[in-house]
Amino acid sequence: MIETKLLPITQESIDLAAEYLRKGTIFALPTETVYGIAASAYNGEAVKDIFRAKGRPQDNPLIVHIAKMDMLYDLAREVSEDALKLAKAFWPGPLTMILPRSEKVADEVCAGLDTVGIRWPSHPVAQKVILESGLPFAAPSANLSGSPSPTNAQDVYQDMNGRLALILDGGESDVGVESTVVSMVEDTPVILRPGYVTKEDLEGVLGKPVALSHAILEKLGEGETARSPGMKYKHYAPKAQITILQGSLEKFREYVSKFEGQPGIFCLCFEGEEASLPLPCVTYGREGDGASQAHDLFRSLRHLDEEGAVKVYARGPKQDGVSMAVYNRLLRAAAFQVVEL
Ligand code: TXA
Ligand code: MG
Repeated sequence: MIETKLLPITQESIDLAAEYLRKGTIFALPTETVYGIAASAYNGEAVKDIFRAKGRPQDNPLIVHIAKMDMLYDLAREVSEDALKLAKAFWPGPLTMILPRSEKVADEVCAGLDTVGIRWPSHPVAQKVILESGLPFAAPSANLSGSPSPTNAQDVYQDMNGRLALILDGGESDVGVESTVVSMVEDTPVILRPGYVTKEDLEGVLGKPVALSHAILEKLGEGETARSPGMKYKHYAPKAQITILQGSLEKFREYVSKFEGQPGIFCLCFEGEEASLPLPCVTYGREGDGASQAHDLFRSLRHLDEEGAVKVYARGPKQDGVSMAVYNRLLRAAAFQVVEL
């Protein structure tokens, strides 16, 4: 078993991470969305170690993180005008673009596809590690495959202790859900995974419609192929079984009150609602405020496990703007169990 070091952010720990990147040792680090596990995008053997550490299916490709525009041109075979517009508007930040891949990217990163996902993170630690090593890094979220993504170093440690050598502790991630993934390989861009950068944000910059993959809010049909391989796997699932209850707080209260006093049954609700609910509660942000919900969601899912929740009734978020990203994650955490009140 590997010994896992958990280090604060210092020049020394950043130097160590940059050295790991150059020599092909995987490690975890903070980004503004969620924590990631990094390996050089040019080192196929190191990238294989990421898949091993996470228990991730081999056919699910990784996102490559850059910190200057030259790196974009090294990794992508072609960068359309629309892609450039989005890069100028949203980078550095929580947007990943799927582009035609160059030969230089390790095959393991792209999992057999002819495309590569690229993003320029705004987190200073991620940027420093890339610039110091001179290497763009491939990085998935730093959770065990299937678990909620980690938004702080302790949550990474919980999943990855003994599986990698180093975790850089940069505190809490600001955004809390993973980047928006938009495919730029056809004329009409398609959002494959919603995030903090919304459909409206993208359309505003491009001045044209952006499509939403239907897999965002629906279960894939039997035998249907996913545009984004990640969409076909079980995701974000805590140990507890979750059911989303869509409707007013009043109806929610009425529905859950029949479980009062039963052990292991919890509410996942919005801040300020706890006092009026008859069950133990964990909150995730404020009602109607997608950004605060995104910030808290994954931590709250892990918190429910820590509290020993067996069954959870969740207040349903809205489905537009940033809330779409929240609903997309919560739906998967709930294995698509939704009750309309
Ligand atoms: O915010 C984020 O994006 C975080 C941080 C660490 O940057 N990373 C992250 O990576 O969420 P991961 O591996 O957990 O999710 C990547 C998603 C998966 O759903 C994957 O299938 C999709 O992006 N993806 C990656 N490359 C792709 C490609 N070439 N075509 C289609 N989908 C792709
Ligand atoms: Mg992930």
